Amino acid sequence: MKFTTLITLCILFHFSKHTLSTITTTTTTLEENFKEAPKFYNSPTCTIITNHTCSIEAVHVAMTLDVSYIRGSMAAILSILQHSSCPENIIFHFITSSSKPSTVLNRIITNSFPYLKYQIYPFNDAPVAGLISTSIRSALDCPLNYARTYLADILPICLPKVVYLDSDLILVDDIAKLAATPLRSNTVLAAPEYCNANFSIYFTPSFWSNPSLSLTFANREACYFNTGVMVIDLQRWRSGEYTTMIREWMELQKRMRIYELGSLPPFLLVFAGRITAVDHRWNQHGLGGDNFRGLCRDLHPGPVSLLHWSGKGKPWARLDENRACPLDALWAPYDLLKTHFAIEV
Ligand SMILES: *[C@@H]1O[C@H](CO)[C@@H](O)[C@H](O)[C@H]1NC(C)=O
Ligand SMILES: *[C@@H]1O[C@H](CO)[C@@H](O)[C@H](O)[C@H]1NC(C)=O
Repeated sequence: MKFTTLITLCILFHFSKHTLSTITTTTTTLEENFKEAPKFYNSPTCTIITNHTCSIEAVHVAMTLDVSYIRGSMAAILSILQHSSCPENIIFHFITSSSKPSTVLNRIITNSFPYLKYQIYPFNDAPVAGLISTSIRSALDCPLNYARTYLADILPICLPKVVYLDSDLILVDDIAKLAATPLRSNTVLAAPEYCNANFSIYFTPSFWSNPSLSLTFANREACYFNTGVMVIDLQRWRSGEYTTMIREWMELQKRMRIYELGSLPPFLLVFAGRITAVDHRWNQHGLGGDNFRGLCRDLHPGPVSLLHWSGKGKPWARLDENRACPLDALWAPYDLLKTHFAIEV
């Protein structure tokens, strides 16, 4: 009982005031607040996979799972299944914080997606917590945000490739197309690149004015990429020991401030200019607005396969507060939370 109350308090803190009144007036537990999603079936042309563990024919998706973003994760999962032609061939790998019990999260997933193929991996975030330097947005400082750096260590050694996705996005296209991105030789990850973005803003003046540090990007066509959507070759990652490289940058950041944001800049330091570019349709990012005010943003020109509410504003919060941005209406159909109906009746 006490535990449920604690979780509810956490949720109240993160969700809007509107949801707050809803949850306090009902006696349901967190998992009862989510609807069950329909079952999604493979189309007849799908490969029949007998052993999904590490199968190269399955699509492996890694996401983090925590109580404060669970509503976003649920919508993301639903959108992935709904737009997939072979939904039964998708395996989810959920990373949770080992410092918090994952029982409730596990029940939420099984209640809403009884047919989902998934595994939960507790991530020991205590060592990471010591490496995090505070950023301009406190949500970015959550240790679980850094789990993407440790995927090669967390996931089974036999897993060759994974699609990493943030929790504040929805897909409107078949994830198998993204997962099938061929990685150029010598590249470890694939993601949409943005070469028009001013790359220098991601690092501090002390970084650029340091003679040796500023050479980091010499002879590289370094472009910004968003780490919320990445196809990662885990075998190349492991053999290149990229986790160590990223951790070394984080250790430097603790000694001298070389960047302002959370987990993104170390990825840029190691990988920018060395990734396989993916079509921009696979990460229409920034829909959450900037990191300070979360203003409404429009889509970038071009086709859309994935909508990403990166930035401060999250569609579930804005919808609850009746200050939704126009594009938040595209997120709403994937919302599995059922509580608001309770008070409106
Ligand atoms: C399934 O595949 C994994 C990885 O290749 C292997 O370790 C496991 O033994 C297989 N399971 C079965 C039941 O064949
Ligand atoms: C990029 O940002 C830096 C630092 O804010 C600024 O000095 C520089 O002029 C900008 N470059 C372009 C091309 O806008």
